Amino acid sequence: MSNKLPIDKNNIPKHVAIIMDGNGRWAKQQGQDRLFGHTSGVESVRSTIRKAKELGIKFLTLYAFSTENWNRPKDEVDALMDLLVRSIANEVDELDENDIRLVTIGDVSKLPIDCQKSLSWAKEKTKKNKSLTLILALNYSARWEIIQALKSIAFEIEHHKLMADELNERVFERFLSTKDIPDPELLIRTSGENRISNFLLWQIAYTEFHFTNVFWPEFRGEHFLQAVQDYQNRERRFGLVSEQIED
Ligand code: IPE
Ligand code: IPE
Ligand code: MG
Repeated sequence: MSNKLPIDKNNIPKHVAIIMDGNGRWAKQQGQDRLFGHTSGVESVRSTIRKAKELGIKFLTLYAFSTENWNRPKDEVDALMDLLVRSIANEVDELDENDIRLVTIGDVSKLPIDCQKSLSWAKEKTKKNKSLTLILALNYSARWEIIQALKSIAFEIEHHKLMADELNERVFERFLSTKDIPDPELLIRTSGENRISNFLLWQIAYTEFHFTNVFWPEFRGEHFLQAVQDYQNRERRFGLVSEQIED
């Protein structure tokens, strides 16, 4: 696929988040089992990271496993965890060589111990990298995150470290797992589903959405580029009228 449309280097989103969806349906179309879709999706991750870095995007969040995904058949959950460990082991050197820092959001303490170990090793190894921060959402859901934040806030108020009166949006954000990460300007979901599935509910208040029918295992850098071009054609008004935001 060739794409000759221009890209505006002065309007690159800082943070792009992706709901990587459609692995199972894609595999079924190929007459394969769902796991084949998940393993094939790893190449899509690689291609997307390469393009994100090339474009100068600073934060890339990938929704890899939701809190709801535990309810899938045990074989699939086990295979996904296994794939995660293997992928990290295979990719960490390349991430590091490309100056990419790996972080996670979500409750990783509930992941199998070998996953936790390979994640903390990869995070430690890449922690000084600056070009791109790759955020893997693992055992993540936005409602869980908001409840966690509320619990911590309640605790701080109870112990007089915070006054209820001091709470505002900025203070609240400090208690989210995305503290220090800017809100995504662009959210991509693959596979033709037009929903959020409990992802980043707080952070997407003013995010632009790009829904594509492409299944995740077929998603490549050029699709990512198309999503960024689509984003660049939007007028982000933040509640204002057009005339107020024209240069
Ligand atoms: C996304 O693909 C991967 C995960 C949610 C882990 P799916 O596995 O949801 O694939 P579909 O949506 O069933 O096709
Ligand atoms: C969302 O996809 C979660 C991830 C991509 C990890 P799902 O396939 O789990 O979402 P639903 O069930 O279609 O809403
Ligand atoms: Mg799905």
